[in-house]
Amino acid sequence: MKRRKTGQFRRGRVGVNRVLFVLSSAIAICYSGASFTRVPAEMSPIEPLIQNNRAWSERMTSHAPDYFRRLAEQQSPKYLWIGCADSRVPANEVVGLMPGELFVHRNVANLVYPSDPNCLSVVAYAIAVLKVEHIIVCGHYGCGGVKAAISNESFGVIDNWLLKIKEVLSRYHKHLDTIADMEQRVDRLCELNVVEQVKTLSQTMIIQDAWHRDQPLALHGWIYGLKDGLIKDLGIRVERLEQVPPR
Ligand code: CO
Repeated sequence: MKRRKTGQFRRGRVGVNRVLFVLSSAIAICYSGASFTRVPAEMSPIEPLIQNNRAWSERMTSHAPDYFRRLAEQQSPKYLWIGCADSRVPANEVVGLMPGELFVHRNVANLVYPSDPNCLSVVAYAIAVLKVEHIIVCGHYGCGGVKAAISNESFGVIDNWLLKIKEVLSRYHKHLDTIADMEQRVDRLCELNVVEQVKTLSQTMIIQDAWHRDQPLALHGWIYGLKDGLIKDLGIRVERLEQVPPR
């Protein structure tokens, strides 16, 4: 009998059936998610998070057993938060709001690009569907994204994302150069960055269309202090078309 080469398919009915069986099994495994290596829960390094979640869920329902059922039916936040992805600035917690009360978008250095479909989709949904009345751009002092932008170092892919801060830097460089202390200079740029993002937001069609419809909507600029946990209102508020700064 002639020996088959290794890996060669066997000809004939049985061979085809075998191939089909292997293929269908592979597809079934992929769809069932079983192609991933299953790790027993007790061995998972992120298992404590699941345990925390169980405890949190129990705490939330201990006084109001239907809490999650009611929350699942509807969300009606009045505020949209556009903040930094920094783990030290947990949006809901720092303003004392519960789930369902704050719509949130976060990215590195709380930037608003008019060409960013992610951010603009969140803003559009917040305005058209949720009818939020306030959009808060909240930066924070000591922001790593701002520090990276002010340095002359390259950080790879994020350099492109930080271009907007570099623009703010070049616009205000005369003012910023008067601040000798580097930490204070970064913090001032963090504030100016927030002001510029509010300005950009006010110039988008999504926001301006809402004002054309007389939909109540105010834009605010805040900054959060990592060292004291306090928010400072930067005093910029745009709530009408007439208040939109020129480009
Ligand atoms: Co940051």
